[in-house]
Amino acid sequence: MIQQSPGGGTGNTERKLMDELIKAWDGECVIVSHDRPSGAWIFIAIHSTKLGPAIGGTRMKHYSELKDALEDAQRLAAGMTYKWAAAGLRGGGGKAVIALDHPLDQQERASLLRRYGTLVRKHRGLFLTGPDLGTSSEDMDIIAQEAPSLVFGRTLEAGGGGNPAPFTARGIFTALETTAQRLFGKGGLSGKKILVQGAGSVGRELIHLLQGCGCEVLFSDIEEETVRLHRNEKGLSFVPPEAVYETACDIFAPCAVGGVLNEESIPRLRCRAVVGGANNQLAAPEDARRLQDRGVLYAPDFVANSGGAIALIGIETRGWSREEAMRRVVKAVRDNLEAIYRTADHEGISTDEAARRLAQRRIDEGAPENEDS
Ligand code: PHE
Repeated sequence: MIQQSPGGGTGNTERKLMDELIKAWDGECVIVSHDRPSGAWIFIAIHSTKLGPAIGGTRMKHYSELKDALEDAQRLAAGMTYKWAAAGLRGGGGKAVIALDHPLDQQERASLLRRYGTLVRKHRGLFLTGPDLGTSSEDMDIIAQEAPSLVFGRTLEAGGGGNPAPFTARGIFTALETTAQRLFGKGGLSGKKILVQGAGSVGRELIHLLQGCGCEVLFSDIEEETVRLHRNEKGLSFVPPEAVYETACDIFAPCAVGGVLNEESIPRLRCRAVVGGANNQLAAPEDARRLQDRGVLYAPDFVANSGGAIALIGIETRGWSREEAMRRVVKAVRDNLEAIYRTADHEGISTDEAARRLAQRRIDEGAPENEDS
């Protein structure tokens, strides 16, 4: 399947690992394309179209190994299947990863996006996309020129729903409130210490909401510029990246990369709950049980971070106003999370398992659209 890697010839081992990833996957298919002019590889992973065409963001970044890009696409696509199902929306799960070979200038980047748009158009009806890590609403405008009506999250000027980050952040904030209420009772979040890992587009909005409700916010980031801004201008306490897991806080909110909850980090956690926006926070399914055993309440990521996806679909295909989208995001996240925490308690299962069961039930039933979600 793979003839060449970003750096030149794909070693046999890498090729084998990629073949294994595809064979072992429980999804439907992976579209693979090598973009010759830029050297980028494109993976569009289609996990499930049971509830409708696959809808998922386009992630664009550099990966040190090509197989990591494929695996990212596959895992993120599965997450989207559960995200749409849990939200009660008719969408299948998919995700695109554009693995960059080298940094591109603006023009190269735009032409890569146009060629990617053509690829999406050719598979019309299978995959629709939107912004994700490394892509913006402006990028969506470019892709949509080649793939009209297959792209969510274009700029407002182009008639799209714009940047989903404020909706995603509102959903995470709601998940934090719901979790705090369960753990700390009526006082909820007020006065609680929340550690936000990653002050990117979503983390930044979340920090803003938390500051508005009397929380003590700690943050961590790897970008010097972001650290300076939040520490100096906003006066927030900075936690160096290597100290994040052992820093005592009430709730840890991972809003950067995936896989942060693993065998190695979970024993170090000093928090009562993990509620954040990153996709694929658990490195492996067993990590849900590890958290439970340590008495750390975990808000399943595909529920906590579903706000942006719910809002864009609602605004762009159902005619919701931005206010209505906000209201629906809050209700969907709160209702789902309360149900998940209840089920996990009653049945003695992890919250991740409870969330997957909820989503799977909706998939198996071919669930009708949840109109008042
Ligand atoms: N990429 C975002 C997510 O993971 C949002 C998104 C919105 C993706 C709409 C696709 C379509 O939820």
